[in-house]
Amino acid sequence: MHTYHDIASLRRRLQAERQSGLRIGLLPTMGNLHAGHLALLSDLAAACDLTVCSIFVNPTQFGVNEDFSRYPRTLSQDQEQLQAAGCSLLFAPDVSEMYPKGSEHNTVVSVPGLQDVLCGAHRPGHFQGVATVVSKLFHIVQPDVAIFGEKDYQQLAVLRRMSEDLNFPVRIIAGATRRDDDGLALSSRNQFLDAEERQRAPMLYKTLCQVRDAIQNGLRDYRMLESSARGLLDKSGFITDYLSIVDARTLQPADVNCQHLTLLVAARLGHTRLIDNLSLSLAETPASLP
Ligand code: PAF
Repeated sequence: MHTYHDIASLRRRLQAERQSGLRIGLLPTMGNLHAGHLALLSDLAAACDLTVCSIFVNPTQFGVNEDFSRYPRTLSQDQEQLQAAGCSLLFAPDVSEMYPKGSEHNTVVSVPGLQDVLCGAHRPGHFQGVATVVSKLFHIVQPDVAIFGEKDYQQLAVLRRMSEDLNFPVRIIAGATRRDDDGLALSSRNQFLDAEERQRAPMLYKTLCQVRDAIQNGLRDYRMLESSARGLLDKSGFITDYLSIVDARTLQPADVNCQHLTLLVAARLGHTRLIDNLSLSLAETPASLP
């Protein structure tokens, strides 16, 4: 697996691969890879001929109080894992390659509506940074297919909308959330939990499952369900940013007529902010988005 650090050489290589008829797949990441990323890579490999993983800790998606400089950079371990997993190419640019004029003086991509709710309301500018860097990656790699994890449900919805609105000729695949045996969704952030927090963390998914079960059993007072679920989390030591029952497509608060629901939660345990989600359909036809 060759690692490219500059855009021009990566483009030359990909142009040759494209001309020989290969279908290119992209897995964008910020590195610090774990089993969840490798599962996404394997899903991607099934949908294309040549897999490109990008590792770029994107400064424009970090808020002022979020520590961009302390984000774990583990390039050589990541390279070993990707190589062992059969990744074809790695693109690992530095900040000056991606933002040569500085990351603050850059054209941006906004996805109004979807980017401002839920995590967007708590992390202003975050999804604009994500949409901007992913649109740059789409232009650089020109993938036929790209994969994003369903664990970051709002990110997936934002990027699908961006791709549709900007007519990117790329098929976006949603990779299923991978979980530990106790239900905790795999995430780079889990490594920051201490032993006691790690024991409590599965409560996040358990709470979502309880809300889902209540809805499946006929409860339709969504605002009441949200507030009692938040209460449960608070009692278990979480500080909950939101626990919301939303329309799976618009991410707006669900009402009783809504057929495709997603339950989303973001909560902090100590210094670690965890997110998770669960979708359910009340209709015969399953939801197609994201
Ligand atoms: O999910 C991530 O790791 C990042 O938000 C992404 C999509 C790679 C953009 O920087």
